[in-house]
Amino acid sequence: MIKAIHVLNGPNLNLLGTREPEVYGHETLADIEARLKAAAGKFNVALTFRQSNHEGDLVTWIQQAGRAGEPVILNAGAYTHTSIAILDAIKGSNADVIEVHLTNVHAREHFRHHSRLSAAVRGVIAGFGSRSYDLALQAFLFASATGES
Ligand code: DQA
Repeated sequence: MIKAIHVLNGPNLNLLGTREPEVYGHETLADIEARLKAAAGKFNVALTFRQSNHEGDLVTWIQQAGRAGEPVILNAGAYTHTSIAILDAIKGSNADVIEVHLTNVHAREHFRHHSRLSAAVRGVIAGFGSRSYDLALQAFLFASATGES
């Protein structure tokens, strides 16, 4: 059974709520954090929720989660499309990651269509607004409850 889940957010996601609301919605990252913590709490899962604008922070947090065998819900923001370091952190620490995006990146600019991370993650959830995070949490909890590794 899963005991802890880490939600990691990359650059500019601290601006949610005021950042291009027509694209990313009006909810803040704190709103999403509160909702996910409440949901995880019902399953006795400790949920940590972090954001950084610095690539290396994400690398360190992914390594820590991977080493601890604790799953990660990752919205790497624009680093999704550029970061070999984050890809290597996922692979190198065997982190069990669900990649999430608020927006449907495939329906947006061409440069957002490719994720450097997707090849190393369990799955990708994109396009459901902040509910992409909830769906990722549900996927991990369901997999854990049904004994699927
Ligand atoms: C994003 C999509 C990325 O292309 C973008 O750079 C972000 C947010 C999303 O959640 O839709 O910062 O990851």
